[in-house]
Amino acid sequence: MLVKNLLPAFVAIGSAAAQSGTCSISGGTTTINSQADATGLASCKTVRGSVVIGRNAGPSIDLSGPGEITGDLKVVDNGIIETLQSSDLATIGGKFQLKNATKLTSVNMAKLTSAKEIEWDTITNIESVTLGPLNKVDDIRISITSLRNLDALDLGNVANLKLDNNARLSKFSSNMRTLSKNLVLASNGIGGIGLEVELPNLVWAVELDINNVTTFSVPSLKTVNGSARFGSNFFQSFSAPNLTTTASGDISFIGNAKLTNATFPKLEAIAGGLTIANNTLLDELTGFPKLKSIGGAVLLRGNFESVELPALDDVKGTFDASSSADISKSCEVFDKLAPQGQGGNGAIQGGYDCTSNNTQANEDTDGSTSGDGGNGGNGGDKDNGAAGLALNTALFAVIGLVGFAVAL
Ligand SMILES: *[C@@H]1O[C@H](CO)[C@@H](O)[C@H](O)[C@H]1NC(C)=O
Ligand SMILES: *[C@@H]1O[C@H](CO)[C@@H](O)[C@H](O)[C@H]1NC(C)=O
Ligand SMILES: *[C@@H]1O[C@H](CO)[C@@H](O)[C@H](O)[C@H]1NC(C)=O
Ligand SMILES: *[C@@H]1O[C@H](CO)[C@@H](O)[C@H](O)[C@H]1NC(C)=O
Ligand SMILES: *[C@@H]1O[C@H](CO)[C@@H](O)[C@H](O)[C@H]1NC(C)=O
Ligand SMILES: *[C@@H]1O[C@H](CO)[C@@H](O)[C@H](O)[C@H]1NC(C)=O
Ligand SMILES: *[C@@H]1O[C@H](CO)[C@@H](O)[C@H](O)[C@H]1NC(C)=O
Repeated sequence: MLVKNLLPAFVAIGSAAAQSGTCSISGGTTTINSQADATGLASCKTVRGSVVIGRNAGPSIDLSGPGEITGDLKVVDNGIIETLQSSDLATIGGKFQLKNATKLTSVNMAKLTSAKEIEWDTITNIESVTLGPLNKVDDIRISITSLRNLDALDLGNVANLKLDNNARLSKFSSNMRTLSKNLVLASNGIGGIGLEVELPNLVWAVELDINNVTTFSVPSLKTVNGSARFGSNFFQSFSAPNLTTTASGDISFIGNAKLTNATFPKLEAIAGGLTIANNTLLDELTGFPKLKSIGGAVLLRGNFESVELPALDDVKGTFDASSSADISKSCEVFDKLAPQGQGGNGAIQGGYDCTSNNTQANEDTDGSTSGDGGNGGNGGDKDNGAAGLALNTALFAVIGLVGFAVAL
């Protein structure tokens, strides 16, 4: 049946005519329901169109023969397939999708080096993936898999990379140099808290949205073109030793429960805002020695004992620092930068507030709330930090609004 759907247009390349065939699939998509169907494609060197492995195909499908599929290769909602292989496939012109194939344990395509897009989602029994390795791919999303490593990928430049809910993935180490859209990491590793990330060659990235990682090493990172957000990570220490600027976005650290040290020794300018909130062990904010200008708002909330931004001389938005501890010495320094209407030199152009002894410092981000006295008699008691553990979704809403107001 399948062969009838193929319109082989044999191209005279070399002597093996069958191996030189370009097969155009009428209707654009062919569905493989059995190994016999797969074998029917074996004489095609190039398959023009997409190949879909049907829901009932398997348990083993060998697609050897074609070196290229110009469209997609998809396995979707197949509860039978266990192994998928091809000894010849080098290029997938479209998407390589493996979605909801929960018996799939092995993918072996040792020549595959190029695909436009990878989407692997809900392949919860996968044990081994062998690719070329894949080194040419724009967009990658790997979610809800049992992959233990990503050795099948050898990325140089990539647009989007999203890794989430891969429960056995404990390490991601890549030579990637640029990331032209988004890197999103969330809930990987055992219990969603185990991913170690090493990107030694990453020089610039547009958006970084980094959650639930145990380490995030970016020694070469020089520019974040958009924003870098770090939420609910498990690292104690974070450093961006070579980062000099965010060209159009924010830097934020929210709810990184173990963070004690965040250092940005070369960072001079943040085009958007700076938000450091609810990192309850971060008692000294001193890691921004060269930070001069902030294009958005500054929101610093936590259990700080000291906040230092010694080079700061230009804040376009509001400046709001509040701690559960006494940061009055730090506030004295920032007071001098306040808007002229508030008695300062005007380096800070939006509203200005700096408060100590605020028991709500980790949960309340309403800049108008005064820290001292707000909590009847408990003002000076740092042991009240536990109050900061209460979930307050308003934190995120308010941060969003501040960022928006500044963007106007
Ligand atoms: C996943 O695939 C299985 C097997 O085909 C199917 O029974 C199930 O409904 C699919 N799940 C979803 C969410 O589509
Ligand atoms: C950091 O930046 C400097 C100056 O641009 C460069 O010479 C150095 O190689 C960079 N370090 C890393 C680890 O990339
Ligand atoms: C990001 O910034 C780097 C360094 O300035 C630049 O070379 C690159 O083209 C920028 N990329 C995007 C997508 O803006
Ligand atoms: C993972 O990160 C997200 C977003 O930052 C957060 O909501 C979630 O609680 C974190 N998960 C764990 C296990 O910490
Ligand atoms: C503050 O972070 C802790 C984890 O350290 C989290 O449980 C709590 O929900 C966060 N509070 C807010 C207001 O986000
Ligand atoms: C913080 O981290 C930086 C860079 O990794 C390091 O040089 C510094 O000694 C650390 N500071 C503390 C107090 O641990
Ligand atoms: C903060 O509380 C401590 C201890 O109660 C007190 O000594 C200090 O004066 C307070 N600081 C401010 C700025 O209110």
